Amino acid sequence: MARITLRQLLDHAAENGYGVPAFNINNMEQALAILEAADSVDAPVIIQASRGARSYANDIVLKHLIDAVAEMYPHIPICMHQDHGNNEATCATAIQFGFTSVMMDGSLKADGKTPADYDYNVKVTRNVVDMAHWVGASVEGELGVLGSLETGMGEKEDGHGFEGKLEHDQLLTDPDQAVEFVKATEVDALAIAMGTSHGAYKFTRKPDGAVLAMNVIEEIHQRLPNTHLVMHGSSSVPQDLQDIINQYGGEMPQTWGVPVEEIQRGIKHGVRKINIDTDNRMAMTGAIRKVFAENPGEFDPRKYLKPAMEAMRAVCRQRLEEFGTAGQASKIKPLPMSAMAKRYQAGELAAKIGVTRQAAE
Ligand code: G3H
Ligand code: 13P
Ligand code: ZN
Repeated sequence: MARITLRQLLDHAAENGYGVPAFNINNMEQALAILEAADSVDAPVIIQASRGARSYANDIVLKHLIDAVAEMYPHIPICMHQDHGNNEATCATAIQFGFTSVMMDGSLKADGKTPADYDYNVKVTRNVVDMAHWVGASVEGELGVLGSLETGMGEKEDGHGFEGKLEHDQLLTDPDQAVEFVKATEVDALAIAMGTSHGAYKFTRKPDGAVLAMNVIEEIHQRLPNTHLVMHGSSSVPQDLQDIINQYGGEMPQTWGVPVEEIQRGIKHGVRKINIDTDNRMAMTGAIRKVFAENPGEFDPRKYLKPAMEAMRAVCRQRLEEFGTAGQASKIKPLPMSAMAKRYQAGELAAKIGVTRQAAE
């Protein structure tokens, strides 16, 4: 079985210049769709579960679901990741249930709504790093609060995100502070804020540098060339998926997501993990709406969940190809968490600050 830690996977991605999409799951159909896509293009995958997903699906179901897909696809390295952990307990229990990686999102307080100060963020993230690295699990931290540079607002669509309006500088990760943060916490990957937000309604027009600050990624990568960067809120909200939903009775106002070419630009500048949930939600919803619109008498769930899985599989496969993840699975030999724990203890995985990747190797 090929469970892999985030750290090992992203180290491989950095060495080989590709990015890895992290797809959210809540149920069996999504797990199967992701693995079918990965298998079809020989790609490793990151599957992530939010707190909402864990309570929706139940930790025991999720654990066995991941065991099942790992058994079905033993040649595909699977990283199982906690998305937006809100405190130490959430991260610890994720590891208990077989996750190989956790995000400690200390940019917000434990309520998942209130922006936290820097010292709080460092403290809670460092606590999780100490605990996770002892058992070889990886940790993603976040610096800066996700939200729209157009409006200053966060989003509550998915239950996680600040409420109200923030100042422009709180919505952009400060590159100097990012260096301090990585030094102080020893995170394996760093999520940064640069204008993306969760959900479908990210931008009111095709984004340019004023609302999607890719330059922030480039600046952080210059100072932290060995730190794996993470882009949240990175669904592209494709026009064809908006059109399908609206054609079959949906009412989604016109909106724009993060263009794939911007993500590809990010991958050239240290972005290694790209979080995608909304595109898959939309793909499944469009397919289900189509079945219901064309066959209003249909009531067998398999008749609409199968097309939903196919639609999600197509999105996943496309992203795996676009980010360069395709073709990499067979080149990776996953290390067990116990081996990663030894590497942390030996100091082999300590943060390298301000050293170029070439020089560090
Ligand atoms: O964090 C954002 C993901 O889209 C997960 O959303 O909290 O509704 O499961 P969720
Ligand atoms: P999207 O809503 O853009 O898919 O982002 C998902 C995400 O960032 C999960 O952490
Ligand atoms: Zn996120």
